Amino acid sequence: MKGFSIASIPGDGVGKEVVPAAQRVLKAISDVHGGLSFEFTEFPYSCEYYLEHGKMMADDGLERLKEFDAIFLGAVGNSLLVPDHVSLWGLLIKIRREFEQVINIRPAKLLQGIRSPLANPNDFDLLVVRENSEGEYSTVGGKMYQNEDQIAIQNNVFSRRGTERAMRFAFEMAAKRKKHVTSATKSNGIVHSMPFWDEVFQCTANDYPEIAADSQHIDALAAFFVTQPERFDVIVASNLFGDILTDIGAAIMGSIGIAPAANINVNGKYPSMFEPVHGSAPDIIGKGIANPIGQIWTAKLMLDHFGEEELGSKLLDVIEDVLKSGFLTPDIGGTSTTKEVTDEIIKRLKSL
Ligand code: NAI
Ligand code: MG
Repeated sequence: MKGFSIASIPGDGVGKEVVPAAQRVLKAISDVHGGLSFEFTEFPYSCEYYLEHGKMMADDGLERLKEFDAIFLGAVGNSLLVPDHVSLWGLLIKIRREFEQVINIRPAKLLQGIRSPLANPNDFDLLVVRENSEGEYSTVGGKMYQNEDQIAIQNNVFSRRGTERAMRFAFEMAAKRKKHVTSATKSNGIVHSMPFWDEVFQCTANDYPEIAADSQHIDALAAFFVTQPERFDVIVASNLFGDILTDIGAAIMGSIGIAPAANINVNGKYPSMFEPVHGSAPDIIGKGIANPIGQIWTAKLMLDHFGEEELGSKLLDVIEDVLKSGFLTPDIGGTSTTKEVTDEIIKRLKSL
């Protein structure tokens, strides 16, 4: 019997609706599978927690979370209670940084049964590997002067270690997929960091002769995500470029409500964190219509991370099957509820 201990943080808004749904799906998987179990421990860290305690998580929160095999998070944010930057930095970003979750991965795939905003899209199935710890999102820089001479300087930080780590991760992922890595660059316009990025990419690619490697400037790449997403397999990108590309990835799939993500710790010192791309969706809270697919697909990424890739791909097949049969929440053009979609996924998993 393989058992995984999971810290669950539903968070705010629809996080509290989709996390329980995804946990029911994982429970069904362990029921069917037999040799596998998931033990969830729930943590109440959220904006409501902040109102009560004046902080987003307990002082020993990181100490406690550290003990788990993974963190399964819904969404964080309720700007009526707590400013977004406070809730984000107090919980999500804190966990990502302290637990050295230096890679962020976000797949985008054309799922049958969902209308993509692209007209007649070809079958695409890509994975963006985003450097998650440095790059353009550094805290180095500052401001000077208050008058018309005012300046702001934001320094980009690209370490060889961080850059190569993201690229190796991308090549390892591609080895299990269609064996193709595209690097998102901008070395024609950014004269220091991006030529360096290209150089590290070239060196890393040399270690993986069996994997095709190419580079695209980020502006053209963004356009290709819209016009020819099917040409990509794995894309490796800096923090900012990856952030932007993955939103396009979610958009071409048809709804942010279905997009999954994972923050990966690669040195094994701390747990990785699995969270869908979407936020707390304040406009649909409590209506029972939040799309659970983003969170359930996120659970699939967690299964992959646990080495249960076969189960993971079975789960994604079932998700696609259920969508194809018309179990669609309103965000993707249907009338089904969170519960109906989840129940149908569980029913089909049990009949496999
Ligand atoms: P959002 O993702 O919460 O909502 C954007 C739009 O997508 C809304 O119309 C919403 O109804 C819809 N949507 C999102 N998830 C859905 C789902 N599962 N099913 C159906 N429709 C869904 O982004 P927004 O409105 O910018 O942010 C709301 C709050 O969430 C803010 O406090 C923000 O800071 C926070 N946020 C948190 C994130 C996280 O925890 N990783 C990510 C993005 C936003
Ligand atoms: Mg973003």
